Amino acid sequence: MTTSHASASTFSDVSARKSACSAVVGLQWGDEGKGKIVDLMAAAHDAVVRYNGGANAGHSVVVSGSRYSLHLIPSGILYPGKAAVIGNGVVVDPWKVVEEVDGLAAKDVDTRGLIISDRAHVVLPYHKLEDGLREDLLNRSNPATAEGAPSTGSGNIGTTRRGIGPAYADKCQRAGAVRMRDLLRRDALRERLSLSLAVKKPLLSGLGLTDAAAADVDLNALTDKCLAVGQRLAPMIQDTTQLLHGMLAQGKSILFEGANGTLLDVDHGTYPYVTGSSCISSGIGTGTGVPTTRVSRIIGVMKAYTTRVGSGPMPTELNDDTAHRIRERGREYGTTTGRPRRVGWLDLVATKYSVMINGATGVALTMLDVLAGFDQISVCTAYEIDGKTYDYFVPDAIELSKAKPVLTSLPGWTQDLSTVTSRDRLPDNARKYVDFLEKYLGVPIQIVSVGPGREQTMIAM
Ligand code: IMP
Repeated sequence: MTTSHASASTFSDVSARKSACSAVVGLQWGDEGKGKIVDLMAAAHDAVVRYNGGANAGHSVVVSGSRYSLHLIPSGILYPGKAAVIGNGVVVDPWKVVEEVDGLAAKDVDTRGLIISDRAHVVLPYHKLEDGLREDLLNRSNPATAEGAPSTGSGNIGTTRRGIGPAYADKCQRAGAVRMRDLLRRDALRERLSLSLAVKKPLLSGLGLTDAAAADVDLNALTDKCLAVGQRLAPMIQDTTQLLHGMLAQGKSILFEGANGTLLDVDHGTYPYVTGSSCISSGIGTGTGVPTTRVSRIIGVMKAYTTRVGSGPMPTELNDDTAHRIRERGREYGTTTGRPRRVGWLDLVATKYSVMINGATGVALTMLDVLAGFDQISVCTAYEIDGKTYDYFVPDAIELSKAKPVLTSLPGWTQDLSTVTSRDRLPDNARKYVDFLEKYLGVPIQIVSVGPGREQTMIAM
């Protein structure tokens, strides 16, 4: 998703509600365009807070005409004077943070608002090695190719190889896991790394670690590397739970930014083809220490069609010219990995489930402009699995991989939408499309986006 930071905001004019907290969550498999919606809503809040995921997320921003890709730093950093907080639920690659800070500083962006939880777990170089080696191994031993095994996609997860799963796994394993604060205390750090390496070395060599990566599992080299990055980030590391509650006590408003998407949530997504964190609104409580009851507005973001990167079921997936057209028009290539995204018609069964799971109070519909030029546009309103019709989502990868979409066809439009500024000025069929989605989902579509620019947004809240 690319957002322009140069144009005027309209969100704060329409909907500034101080001391009301909001959340932005993805209703699909990530890449819904959350970055643009966060950017719009940030203007009306005092802090923007990430609560889950890590450098697997990606968001391109255009700052004063130049583009920069952010993976970890919340986009609130682009507003001077606002806090951009990385909560305890995020797994932080500290070297990536430094890279992003330096990239922003080179473009004269003030990064002093960045604060990182002292309890956020650290993604270490061996987590990335483990992620990649596991994926390669799983791919080679693909169960889908084994005799009679049910196919639910390829054998591997198709991760971003950013070390996300291994870092969250170590968080749960506990012994030897490193948190941000540990980067500031030599003895504890060395002790933890030494414990961790006692397990990682045999594990990684069993997975096929090469000599070239040996420095990543050398205790002395790794300790020094960690201490150096800790020193660099030290001014940003603090107890963010206290910080956020202090802000709330002063009547300040917080915007929580969900990474990835509901259908990638470790509990509620299409397990095992999911990420390692709680992407849904409830993740705010565990990922920041702020109770979800403080959040009065939850905006679920969805594209006007569906995309997915990596393995796993996707009932509306298309592999034809329509998919190609949508992929090219929507520039559907991963911000983090550059991988072409899988593309399909909008799966309303899945998004309605996500609205329910998140308690979404409103929806932001993005990329509507991409659908111009089709005679007919389909949306999935039910599934057929083994001859039975389901009008609700089935978050089970094996069952869902058998689902055939029951499609409703709606008439398309030819007009370019990129300059339309209000919903009632949309071409008839585009407006009817939006109305249809709204009626099906049962929550108001409060934002419609027809391009990357802030001005290419219709807001009604
Ligand atoms: P991981 O989060 O790198 O472990 O990847 C697990 C799955 O989630 C893979 O299918 C990834 O492609 C997918 N994934 C993780 N983060 C994102 C995201 O921000 N957008 C889209 N897909 C994602």
